[in-house]
Amino acid sequence: MNLVKLQQLAQDGEKIAVLTCYDASFASLCESAGVDVLLVGDSLGMVLQGNSSTLSVTLSQMVYHTRAVAAGTKKAYIVSDMPFGSYQQSPEQALRNASRLMAAGAHMVKLEGGTVMVETVRFLVERGIPVCGHLGLTPQSVHQLGGYRVQGKDDASAQQLVSDAQALENAGAGMIVLEMLPASLAKTITSSIHIPTIGIGAGVDCSGQVLVLQDMLGIYHGKSPRFVRNFMQGATSIQEAVATYVLAVKDKTFPAAKHSF
Ligand code: KIV
Ligand code: NA
Repeated sequence: MNLVKLQQLAQDGEKIAVLTCYDASFASLCESAGVDVLLVGDSLGMVLQGNSSTLSVTLSQMVYHTRAVAAGTKKAYIVSDMPFGSYQQSPEQALRNASRLMAAGAHMVKLEGGTVMVETVRFLVERGIPVCGHLGLTPQSVHQLGGYRVQGKDDASAQQLVSDAQALENAGAGMIVLEMLPASLAKTITSSIHIPTIGIGAGVDCSGQVLVLQDMLGIYHGKSPRFVRNFMQGATSIQEAVATYVLAVKDKTFPAAKHSF
């Protein structure tokens, strides 16, 4: 998998199946079950470390998990999250830290934020580092947003999200995660840009879907959000659950209306 192929999938209307992944064993399993993109998410602060937010995750932890995922895969596209505080200060700071994730085996880095991150996104892309944006519910801003809640519900914030997505695309971003948005808004955003959108709690009309691995396997100890489906239900193995997820994304049966806002 590579960025050109991902863009081709989106243009052809084939949905992109993404899962988070933090280690070599699951990386290898997900890859052979047909997952297109593995996201080494800073959600590992919650699902692996047991914290109530992603804010305490460090760059060296992201490097460690990126290395593990890269070691377990041959062809999957690996996107690694830039953790809180590792990119917001300046484009130079972001380049220094993104370089460490790329050296560890990432093919693309992901950072949260819209128009405010445009200069940084352009700086990284012009220097050869593919960037994935992340809009809507941006978990690193949970204390600013007042909790894990649906974003873009009023006209002004919806309009802002559309222009944020366009600004990220213009800056050279290769993909954008849309988290917890009304399905209709995610659809509008997806049709107003040319790069793939990957939804989580953002309806079925994104170019692809992502879930946290532990959520979709039903093994996360915390409360599971409305947009999660437990793919272990009815499956006889983890391999089968992941393959069922890939199929459900590809044939657009996941997410259903009950998983959307
Ligand atoms: O950290 C993460 O797992 C993510 C996804 C939920 C998009 O950013
Ligand atoms: Na994340």
